[in-house]
Amino acid sequence: MGIPVESLKISSSKSQFDANAGNYASSSVHRFGASLPVLLKLADPNKNDLVLDVATGTGNTALAFAPLVSRVTGIDMSPKMLEQAKSRANTENILNADFLEGDAEHLPFRDSSFSIVTSRHAPHHFQDVPKFLSEVKRVLKPSGRFVMGDQIVVHTEDQNWVNEFQRTRDPSHYLQRLVTQWQDLIHDAGLVWVKDQLVPYKLEFDWWVQASGCKSEQIMKLEQMAFAAEQSRRSRLNLEFDASGRISCFIEPMLVVKLEKH
Ligand SMILES: C[S@@+](CC[C@H](N)C(=O)[O-])C[C@H]1O[C@@H](n2cnc3c(N)ncnc32)[C@H](O)[C@@H]1O
Repeated sequence: MGIPVESLKISSSKSQFDANAGNYASSSVHRFGASLPVLLKLADPNKNDLVLDVATGTGNTALAFAPLVSRVTGIDMSPKMLEQAKSRANTENILNADFLEGDAEHLPFRDSSFSIVTSRHAPHHFQDVPKFLSEVKRVLKPSGRFVMGDQIVVHTEDQNWVNEFQRTRDPSHYLQRLVTQWQDLIHDAGLVWVKDQLVPYKLEFDWWVQASGCKSEQIMKLEQMAFAAEQSRRSRLNLEFDASGRISCFIEPMLVVKLEKH
């Protein structure tokens, strides 16, 4: 997949997200981001659906589904993120949502338990995506649908740079993929690619580094990487700079895709 796994220095998503759960709970990018309505539309939920949201974080996707379905379960490996999800469900009096600790690569559910599985803003953290996909397929009912939203890389020549940039900001970032790499993984998992949409997100650099709790050395390295990026990369990645030449924002493309188990 382009980057040898041995060369990656991955830290745990659990400690990264436990430490920053409050920031993610108040993140409008995660709560109101444009990929959420697209994901809901592709999933086309109804009142009989049983939904599993994998790596639910503070519950944004799970809680958007709750009023539209029979029951939704959110799982995540970060207890602090889950506390935020439970607290929001209580505040909003949402009674058909459960949140529990669990690993995307070892889903703690019986075969054929859910009619819809979702996972948004998260699969780039998973270290064994083939295992994750086989688990999703296992827990989906026959004819179930899986709707996934994840940030991708559009141009092959930017993949190493983007992953280094992302990992400098959040050491639990594992791998941001090309659409063709997702297509291969989905094909190998035996799932059927039904429909997709690319949703661009404009991210403010200062918000982005604050949300993941970056320290000043990380911020400096990110600023230097962006400053040193050649013009062609700046344009492909829509890196924008202020008058002093410091990065101010960039576009993150999110792939939202509907997959089916036939
Ligand atoms: C950006 S947050 C998720 C956002 C959320 N899905 C939403 O729609 O707002 C990424 C989440 O992935 C979780 N995560 C990362 N790797 C995981 C794994 N292998 N199993 C379960 N959760 C994982 C992290 O703990 C974190 O809460």
